[in-house]
Amino acid sequence: MTRLDGPLSWSGRARAYAAKSKIYRVRHYLDHAATTPMRAAAIEAMAAQQQLVGNASSLHTSGRAARRVVEESRESIAGAIGCRPSEVVFTSGGTESDNLAIQGTFAARRDAGRVRLLVSAIEHHAVLDCVDFLVAHEGAKVTWLDCDASGVVHPETVQRAVEEDPDSVALVSLMWANNEVGTVQDVAAAAAVAHEFGIPLHTDAVQALGHLPLDVASSDVDLMSLTGHKVGGPVGVGALVLKRSATIVPLSHGGGQERGVRSGTLDVAAIRAFAVAVDAAARELLSESSRLVGLRDWLISGAMALGYDIEAGGTWVAGDATTRLPGNAHLIVPGCEGDSLLYLLDAAGIECSTGSACQAGVPQPSHVLLAMGLTEQRARGALRVTLGHTSTSDDVEAFLGALPAAVERARRAAGSR
Ligand SMILES: Cc1ncc(COP(=O)(O)O)c(C=O)c1O
Repeated sequence: MTRLDGPLSWSGRARAYAAKSKIYRVRHYLDHAATTPMRAAAIEAMAAQQQLVGNASSLHTSGRAARRVVEESRESIAGAIGCRPSEVVFTSGGTESDNLAIQGTFAARRDAGRVRLLVSAIEHHAVLDCVDFLVAHEGAKVTWLDCDASGVVHPETVQRAVEEDPDSVALVSLMWANNEVGTVQDVAAAAAVAHEFGIPLHTDAVQALGHLPLDVASSDVDLMSLTGHKVGGPVGVGALVLKRSATIVPLSHGGGQERGVRSGTLDVAAIRAFAVAVDAAARELLSESSRLVGLRDWLISGAMALGYDIEAGGTWVAGDATTRLPGNAHLIVPGCEGDSLLYLLDAAGIECSTGSACQAGVPQPSHVLLAMGLTEQRARGALRVTLGHTSTSDDVEAFLGALPAAVERARRAAGSR
């Protein structure tokens, strides 16, 4: 997406002036895995709903109208991901859904002595830190599930970990697609392993929603975390898919909304916009994913052609597009600090990331890359470039144009020349 930095709305003349002036620089947003721009239809739906009053729990006409919007949104999201509407629990986003799934399941199953969590080592911090909390304060035990060099957690790894002591396991948690390197997991196979032993499986599908076909029924997962702002909906709304097979203890207590699992007045406008965004993404999923794969592969081959010994971190098997998110290019630039690259590219109008945006500002090598076997030094050269629904060839061209100078300066700064 090309946009002009500055005021939110522009008249045509102001836009033309700004484009010529040195004050405003054309910017290229290549950080869609952190958050993606809201879709126009979602903005419209949200604005329209915000003009209406009505608590979805109220019994009067306005309340019932709000409830109808919520239930239609629930049905629409359920239709897009292959589950029953009654299995969709609205939350404030991915972090809350992950916490509700993990803490809630742990609380529900611990009494029977099931205190072990089997969790992949490459999860988002919303999962990792929640697990760490349960270990530190609630007597949980954790078995981290290793991945291979391309970031894949194999079903046999899950099987081995379960078999150590099946009766002690509360939950398996394996993300659908990784937010840093884009690796896609065989979640259905992991769920089959877990179910052999009667263990529920949670998947964080925050990065997969709208980018990969998600089917709750056929993947047979028990709990699935989703969020609105990675799919073109608003920040601050998401969902936990909670199958009938899963029992959790609520984390918040109050009005008993959402099957009593997640109390709190529903944000009707955000829910409506979330549903509109999911619907739009689902409709264009096939065409968009092949468009993004085209742009992404051009970006990777362009970067590699610059001769930096750049490796695609999510797929050591070059070109294996089936195991990574369509819009994800994860580059390792030897001899550079990813942070320096990020700031230099930013100064040139290119916005990308070193990894998880939620960790930005903490200059540590990524736990995902370390789990994949990279050395600390190599992992420090990570640059995550992620494309989304507003990305164009201009963005890729601008990135490839700006990269050589940024690498040159970042290397000088690292004193590696
Ligand atoms: C894989 C993954 N899980 C969870 C989250 C947290 O979602 P939210 O920002 O909606 O809380 C993110 C956000 O970066 C993510 O990428």
